[in-house]
Amino acid sequence: MAKPVRKILVTNALPYANGPIHLGHMLGYIQADIWVRYQRLIGNECHFVCADDAHGTPIMLKARELGISPEQLIDEMSKAHQADFSDFGVSFDNYHSTHSEENRVLANLIYTRLRDNGYITTRVIEQLYDPERGMFLPDRFVKGTCPECKAVDQYGDNCDSCGATYSPIDLIDPRSAVSGAVPEVRESEHYFFDLPAFGDMLKEWTRSGSLQPEMANKLNEWFDAGLQQWDISRDAPYFGFEIPDAPGKYFYVWLDAPIGYMSSFQNYAERVGLNFDEFWQEDSGAEVYHFIGKDIIYFHSLFWPATLKGAQFRQPTSVWAHGFITVNGTKMSKSRGTFIMARTYLEHLNPEYLRYYFAAKLSNRIDDLDLNLEDFTQRVNSDLVGKVVNIASRCAGFITKQFDGQLSANIAEPELLAEFQQAQTVISQAYEAREFSKAMREIMRLADRANEYIAIKEPWKLAKQEGQAQAVQDVCSMGLHLFRLLMIYLKPVTPELTAHAEQFLNDSFSWASIEQVLTGHRINKFKALLQRVPTESVDAMIEASKESLQETAPTTVAEKPTTAKEPIEPIANEIEFGDFAKIDMRVALIVNAEHVEGADKLIKLTLDIGEEKTKQVFAGIKAAYQPESLIGQHTVMVANLKPRKMRFGLSEGMVLAAGPGGSDLYILNPHEGAQPGMQVK
Ligand code: 2FM
Ligand code: ZN
Repeated sequence: MAKPVRKILVTNALPYANGPIHLGHMLGYIQADIWVRYQRLIGNECHFVCADDAHGTPIMLKARELGISPEQLIDEMSKAHQADFSDFGVSFDNYHSTHSEENRVLANLIYTRLRDNGYITTRVIEQLYDPERGMFLPDRFVKGTCPECKAVDQYGDNCDSCGATYSPIDLIDPRSAVSGAVPEVRESEHYFFDLPAFGDMLKEWTRSGSLQPEMANKLNEWFDAGLQQWDISRDAPYFGFEIPDAPGKYFYVWLDAPIGYMSSFQNYAERVGLNFDEFWQEDSGAEVYHFIGKDIIYFHSLFWPATLKGAQFRQPTSVWAHGFITVNGTKMSKSRGTFIMARTYLEHLNPEYLRYYFAAKLSNRIDDLDLNLEDFTQRVNSDLVGKVVNIASRCAGFITKQFDGQLSANIAEPELLAEFQQAQTVISQAYEAREFSKAMREIMRLADRANEYIAIKEPWKLAKQEGQAQAVQDVCSMGLHLFRLLMIYLKPVTPELTAHAEQFLNDSFSWASIEQVLTGHRINKFKALLQRVPTESVDAMIEASKESLQETAPTTVAEKPTTAKEPIEPIANEIEFGDFAKIDMRVALIVNAEHVEGADKLIKLTLDIGEEKTKQVFAGIKAAYQPESLIGQHTVMVANLKPRKMRFGLSEGMVLAAGPGGSDLYILNPHEGAQPGMQVK
């Protein structure tokens, strides 16, 4: 009897809308995507939705810093994020935003239900306030001296030096990271969600057995420490949703962020005609899984199930956390070039390499994963190219040239084929349990078996012998049957490569294809399916990651990270007129422009700024301009910037350009009549 089709909704943590996606983020998205693709492959109804996490102080400040509206910032970020995910093969059914009408309505509904059910209280609290900016400061936007160990320059919530946690009010010599002003302590009324009321329900949910053991342990520690009231409001100015019955108060970003899972699903459900309630009502028979990073377990395993319960919605079936990535054994580092943006990776390497490498190292535990670039190159080359694709390249030519693309009418080694088919149980269990490394090990063990078989049969020798034509066709067909099974098993991990294999084998794979055999089937001409990892591209990616540090330093700032997932950049401030007056901007004539060997983003410019003075500037505009097209143009440069030593030489200023970046960047072009050396006023 056929198994009933499961109805599954999968989400991955929503990325903040104030910074680009990097490889640390990609681990979670790739993990979730592999699981989703596996579920779809075996025939389950599996929906995968995501959204940008668009609210909060960091986004509001980032937009101010860029001189654009938060709406414009989140719009641009959403486009960039979606392009990155799509290019990595992440197969979302829907991508939405927490700053959406659906999310506003659902957040209001959940809040109103919580309030009406008696789970919201208000209390006046003291907080640090920036008198220059007229805003309360989130903990991470206050810096000062640690009250415990006296280390300077520590954040308002905990000390990096001694690990102490404290209230920002206790910091010695506090300063606002927004303006540099000395903050004042001010009072304000805040709204609290009664998390302790959900202790028993959360304990029961924890014991349901569907959580990772490490997560259940963590929850038990939190239960022992005692659950606290959760502050869900923030004062204006705040980029978010105003609380319906509290003008000037906004929902804290973490209240409406996970509601984004529901609202993205609702937006999708309406678009494709699915029933929202079937997935979210209290007695829903559907399964809901959230893939998240280990830094946000608290939000997803305590606040989220409790708010859902308090608002009469179902709880997630499970929340699955993964660890962080390290690169070459250490935390991703901008100066080492290992803080790699998704886009930088994509500009240099095939995304399927990384999908496979992550799969080969992922288990269902919350361990960190090291992306060792040498091991990455070696493993992808040896497994995907050397073992799997090699089977097809060894067998395909004979079938195409000698048998007009026709596979044998019989199976040469039924037992070997059966062994490959039976492996579906182990592989399937491993995928289901998110033990991807186990699945990859089994697939590579089979690939070794297939290569051994071909090595023993030596079809290239048989092909030279009289009367062995049938044997050649049988052996090579057998090799291709085995290759086909491997590609079916790899389909969730390497969808592109599998699509090429499907084209080559003139077939399309579902899990049921494992039981079918293509005897007597005609295949297409073989084309190289996958290139070896070019080591020079890996090196170039690292160099480009170093360059992006020198040119721009895009970073996401979390409102309140529980662990520093990424470094916090200082916030750019308004400047005084006096600071502006110090900048010497000059009209410059571009007298020469050339490529910089080894640099992916830079063009070397020689600029004439009058009085026979020239300056050399390295500008990150290569994606936008051909050097030749720049020669003879006028632009504007900052002429009194202290020269910076870059890897490629001295850069003696900066040219001004506008635009979101990449190929969308425009150097400023003064009107004709402006002469080199003229000061820009
Ligand atoms: O930590 C983060 O990056 C958050 N933007 C994750 C939000 S997940 C969900 F709750 F929206
Ligand atoms: Zn300290």
